[in-house]
Amino acid sequence: MKVILYVFSGTGNTLRVASLYKKYLNAEVTVYRIAKNSPPPPSPDEYDLIGLGYPIHAFSAPEPILKFAKTLPEMQGKRAFVFKSSGEGLHLNDGSSQKLIKILKKKGYDVLFERHFVMPYNMIYRHSDEMAKQMWIYTQAMTALSAREIENGVRRKTKQNIFKKAFTAIFRVIEQPFAHIHGPLFKVDKKKCIDCQRCIKICPQANIKIKDGKFKFGRECVLCMGCSFNCPMDAIHVGFFKFWKVNGSYRLNELEKDENLYFPVVPDKAKRIYRLYKKYYRECDAQLKQANINVADFIK
Ligand SMILES: Cc1cc2nc3c(=O)[nH]c(=O)nc-3n(C[C@H](O)[C@H](O)[C@H](O)COP(=O)(O)O)c2cc1C
Repeated sequence: MKVILYVFSGTGNTLRVASLYKKYLNAEVTVYRIAKNSPPPPSPDEYDLIGLGYPIHAFSAPEPILKFAKTLPEMQGKRAFVFKSSGEGLHLNDGSSQKLIKILKKKGYDVLFERHFVMPYNMIYRHSDEMAKQMWIYTQAMTALSAREIENGVRRKTKQNIFKKAFTAIFRVIEQPFAHIHGPLFKVDKKKCIDCQRCIKICPQANIKIKDGKFKFGRECVLCMGCSFNCPMDAIHVGFFKFWKVNGSYRLNELEKDENLYFPVVPDKAKRIYRLYKKYYRECDAQLKQANINVADFIK
């Protein structure tokens, strides 16, 4: 089987999930990053199955993945699935794929299911190392489960209701235009900047330019946070989102091996905000048990 995963990712979480599908699927898997400076995408007709991956932004799928889906050719009956990463497992996120799936179906794609993976936040607040470790270990187990679902031809519909649908639609029409208007408010602190230009290389929207020796942020921004999250000097001001900024990689490959980090924080030590994750992990545990997959096997 040949599979292509078309992925939009700001800070790398969704690309990490894609790399897990590549690891666990018994198939030849190609990962394509949706970005303005990527080469043209391979056509879906060369593949047996396509996957579309994105990070949830304001309870919705970000603009670049929706625009990308609109450029896909019509393909009657081509099998497809959707996967998404987000910082919370709340069911309010459930409506996020609606528009994307609608676009795909209109073009004739046969959408089998969508899968939601909870990964460490790249905005709002930084998850603790223990929590990030748990998220990464469970994401590995859940991707292994999802790969098995694909191989077994599983079909599933995510439960929707009018509330989830409205929530997603309202946030999408506010957040997406706002991101463009807000874009030029991103600024580089020249005192901290070491001119590595990592932000320019990472930006999937090619929105950061240097003009007269100064960094200029344009209106193509989609608030993916790739630039500020990855800045090694934490030198990027993020406009209105100053208090929600998260800077610096979670070093997931190191955290998963750190035996001093308690596992699993949820439910064992879930306090304050982490209590909200109980339902998500309960659901993961139930699905893994049913599939005879042991999450402990994913601990390094
Ligand atoms: C602008 C923005 C909005 C976000 N909105 C949500 C949200 O509504 N729900 C949620 O659970 N996570 C939200 N997140 C967190 C991301 O979905 C999460 O960190 C994701 O794994 C990032 O994936 P990426 O690294 O592939 O970009 C948001 C992040 C950003 C930058």
